Amino acid sequence: MEKLELLYEGKAKRVYTTSDQDKYIVSYKDSATAFNGEKKGEIAGKGEVNNIMSNRICQLLEKSGIKTHFIQELNERETLVKAVSIVPLEVIIRNVAAGSFSKRFGVAEGTVLKQPTLEFCLKDDALGDPMINTSQVLALDIATPRELEKIAYIATRVNEILSEYFNTIGVKLIDFKIEVGRLNGDIILADEISPDTCRFWDKATGKKLDKDRFRQNLGEVEEVYQEMLNRVTRH
Ligand code: TMP
Ligand code: ASP
Repeated sequence: MEKLELLYEGKAKRVYTTSDQDKYIVSYKDSATAFNGEKKGEIAGKGEVNNIMSNRICQLLEKSGIKTHFIQELNERETLVKAVSIVPLEVIIRNVAAGSFSKRFGVAEGTVLKQPTLEFCLKDDALGDPMINTSQVLALDIATPRELEKIAYIATRVNEILSEYFNTIGVKLIDFKIEVGRLNGDIILADEISPDTCRFWDKATGKKLDKDRFRQNLGEVEEVYQEMLNRVTRH
């Protein structure tokens, strides 16, 4: 399958049309941004890590009954996916306080939450991806009640499956963001699941193994992306 036209270019990926209108090719870049594009950089090898890791995770989730956009890995940076219409929401689950949650609520990073939280942000770069609640999502007709139910179910199941999986490779899943798309009246998992979109802490040492190393200038950025890929591809 060949790339035809560039359909969309985001901060970390390009999406191309193909000769089949039901399929897109996603191409992962090494560029990284943080704080709504304020901080910019390159993480060498990130495109390959995020592509391969996301694909492994999609395959794992499919085995557990979660429908995803994944079709076929084409090469180290490119994947054939189902053409979905993305629901413009960032769906965030947290198990442990960190990042914007710690800041917003004044809760120390690392505080284990009594139960996982489910949050939505509106995907809109110009507005800085503001947080949005379910009544606002419904009022703005961003998703239907039935779709919101499905989205919450998918996010919760992904959290259960991935928390257990990452635990087996010595990683605590602190929080993550997913995106979903519409396909033939259904809602399926789309976009990536990678060190860009999750917080991973080493179970034994607490070391951060994700994009927070870039966001917070902690060093060893490339190394931890490779480390996560190694752990995922070994298991
Ligand atoms: P936050 O604590 O900054 O709100 O991030 C929560 C989770 O969402 C974290 O795992 C990182 C991920 N995330 C993205 O995937 N994209 C984003 O633009 C942001 C801000 C966070
Ligand atoms: N994707 C976000 C941005 O540049 C950053 C992040 O992951 O924190 O805006």
